[in-house]
Amino acid sequence: ILYPKTVEINGVVIPKDCVVLVPTWTLHRDPEICSDPEEFKPERFSKENKESIDPYTYMPFGAGPRNCIGMRFALIMIKLAMVEILQSFTFSVCDETEVR
Ligand code: HEM
Repeated sequence: ILYPKTVEINGVVIPKDCVVLVPTWTLHRDPEICSDPEEFKPERFSKENKESIDPYTYMPFGAGPRNCIGMRFALIMIKLAMVEILQSFTFSVCDETEVR
């Protein structure tokens, strides 16, 4: 966001023309916000768990009125790609696979 005028939000002054970026990489890896951020835990996004995720701490597609317009398209394409891959290939673990 390029700020069009100087504003003060919660005591922080953001000068006119200041570029404000939301550090999503850092947010998504903060263990105070997301437990074991480096672990592959797809169950984080289960129906029961995802309700508890604050939408302003997890925002891979941004947030607010200018969030990603292609989000639904991207998510459906990723699911379709997964279906194609799983229908075409068989997966198995090898000696180096870390099983936790
Ligand atoms: C995994 C795939 C994708 C990710 C992670 C992603 C992520 C994002 C993010 C973070 C933003 C900025 C949102 C904000 O400022 O709050 C954005 C904006 C945007 N994305 Fe995506 N995107 C993806 C796929 C797509 C696709 C497939 C399209 C189009 C077919 C698309 C079109 C756009 C457009 C047009 C904007 C600008 C929206 C605006 O400024 O009003 N994105 N995207």
